[in-house]
Amino acid sequence: MSKNQRAEELKRILIVGGGGRENSIAWALSKNQSIEQIYVCPGNGGTSNFKKCICLKPKSEDAKTIITECQRLEINLVIIGPEVPLAQGLADKMREAGLTVFGPGKDGAQLEASKEWSKALMIENKIPTAKYWSTGSEEEALEILKRLNQPLVIKADGLAAGKGVTVCETIKQSKEAIQEIFSGKFGSAGDKVILEEKIEGPEVSIFALCDGEKLIVLPPAQDHKRLLDGDNGPNTGGMGAYAPARLIDEEELKKLTDLVLIPTLKGLKKKKIKYIGVIYAGLMLTSSGPKVIEFNCRFGDPECQALMPLMGEEFASVLFACSRGEIETAPKLTFNSECSACIVAASKGYPESPQTGKKIDIRVESDSSFQVFHAGTTIDEFDNIITTGGRVLSIVAQGESFDKAFELAYANLKQINFEGMHFRKDIGYQVRKI
Ligand code: AMP
Ligand code: GLY
Repeated sequence: MSKNQRAEELKRILIVGGGGRENSIAWALSKNQSIEQIYVCPGNGGTSNFKKCICLKPKSEDAKTIITECQRLEINLVIIGPEVPLAQGLADKMREAGLTVFGPGKDGAQLEASKEWSKALMIENKIPTAKYWSTGSEEEALEILKRLNQPLVIKADGLAAGKGVTVCETIKQSKEAIQEIFSGKFGSAGDKVILEEKIEGPEVSIFALCDGEKLIVLPPAQDHKRLLDGDNGPNTGGMGAYAPARLIDEEELKKLTDLVLIPTLKGLKKKKIKYIGVIYAGLMLTSSGPKVIEFNCRFGDPECQALMPLMGEEFASVLFACSRGEIETAPKLTFNSECSACIVAASKGYPESPQTGKKIDIRVESDSSFQVFHAGTTIDEFDNIITTGGRVLSIVAQGESFDKAFELAYANLKQINFEGMHFRKDIGYQVRKI
């Protein structure tokens, strides 16, 4: 079968998830002429703003119901956005039912779902990372801390919605963070704790699309995890991003591919894991070289929102080829050479206890160089757009320079409002004049 014939088979896609990431993936895929319909399950208040995109709200979110819906709608490709369904094995169940899925199975998702597992994989495959100790006993964790006698980074082993990591300034804080994890704050995600050496340096995220055997590397992106300007305040899921991250050039990205991404995929293969999906490596560029601080088994949010506008129209065909384990049959993935900027508008109280139910006023429209991606939004019975979560919108713009991209994003942000709206004014400070 020729490449073109294969691409033509891709008519109907279902994206699992309802955040800004999934909204931006749907938008990027909708650019592909041959795709007829994109369902986002459950989607959000912005899903149907993009042509061919609609929400699919099944009666239940259980795997069986979603699979039945996929069969009924004759879905050719399923893309699973968030880590939780991946870690629960949704991709495995879908593949067993004969669906073509982009996203790793439960085994591969451990890359993100167990920090202990991913640390061991890094050590086995000589992937540079911070020194660590892991234990399932509070007593032992406190003993390790006492012996090392230095502030550490304390991490819950499992998925904790980005909240399971405490970068400690003091030994006392490290002790409290250990006690907090074993007190059950993160449920079973805290059955084990990872104590990690604190490392320093700028952070950058790199991504690869994998078909189980081979990979395609995407432009790197820069996240902004802290809530407030100047990288202050608590850690969040991410308050803004830009791509491509200028911290590493093409040659360095190639080196990081050889140092991190290829050994990771090889390490997974050694464990007989056919990893289909995104490998996301969060790196710290330390004075003694780059080190991995985390792996994720999916696109980053909001990095994805900055990245998607850079993808060529063939992105859909590339994901489809990856999902079939045939990356080599995909057309070459091209990237727009522009700079892409993303600013997250969040609710008052985010990340601890976001206020919701606020009416959103949006007086700008998405076009080819500016996009409003929705996350925590819904549409009420009067057709008003209402906030439903912490991170509400991603305002994304492209330009020939980061100055231009951020200028456009921030100018358009002035046309958007809801009560208590909070956003950082310094996203991209690393690459633009403020
Ligand atoms: P994670 O959820 O693993 O991405 O960690 C959240 C944030 O904690 C990272 O983006 C880093 O800023 C910080 N962090 C994680 N591990 C370390 C480490 N070993 N040393 C210093 N900072 C770290
Ligand atoms: N923005 C970080 C993440 O998606 O994990």
